[in-house]
Amino acid sequence: MKTNNKLIVMNWKCNPRSIAEARVLAVASDVRGVVVCPPSVFLCSVAQILKQASLGAQNGFWAEGAYTGEYSFGQLKSAGVKYAIIGHSERRLLFGENSQIISKKIASALAAGISPIVCIGEKKRTTVYTAIKAVVTELNNSFTGISKDNLGKIILAYEPIWAIGTGKNAPLDEVLPIISAMRKYMMDLSNKKIKIIYGGSVSPENVSSYAVSPFIDGVLVGGASANKQKSAAIIEKLHSLNF
Ligand code: PGA
Repeated sequence: MKTNNKLIVMNWKCNPRSIAEARVLAVASDVRGVVVCPPSVFLCSVAQILKQASLGAQNGFWAEGAYTGEYSFGQLKSAGVKYAIIGHSERRLLFGENSQIISKKIASALAAGISPIVCIGEKKRTTVYTAIKAVVTELNNSFTGISKDNLGKIILAYEPIWAIGTGKNAPLDEVLPIISAMRKYMMDLSNKKIKIIYGGSVSPENVSSYAVSPFIDGVLVGGASANKQKSAAIIEKLHSLNF
């Protein structure tokens, strides 16, 4: 039985291909503490399956009305969504999302009562010092117009872009000083202790290395989360460590 409130965020990305496969994956991840983020088209089907896990979205839009192809955070909320990934590097890179867009999305998610999971990370592997500078600059640009109180409701995902989908996860000793700098930044800004999780090639083989740290509040799993065996193995490892 899970007793802490750490998060295991499963970002399926644009997987799997069918509702039938999505249902099977959802059953495998339906465990307390897990946030299942299927493609938007499968949200309602997955919502019917989850009893223990929470439902998350991979994106959302800040308005309703004449915006063909979009869906708002209010609509996500009514579909049972509790969390939304915002500013994932794939959205920044492939869909042109910048800090202004990300700020608007964060504000809109918060207004709808959805917890934003905001992804931030440096592009290239570099020194910890340079990574901290890049991450803090991005944090500086991300929260325009968001009140101090609301800042405390944000979850940050430290996701070094070079580690995403590459099989090269960032080692704990590099991750910790960066998360600590992010925590200090948010503390100075909002006076609140927020959750900060790690993402980037998290796998059944390496997930325990993050679970042992009291300074990491969770993990964001991408590629491995769309594989039934791997996601089950990650959940099992984390639970055996009382994560
Ligand atoms: P990955 O993706 O686990 O495949 O590296 C992480 C992510 O979606 O951010």
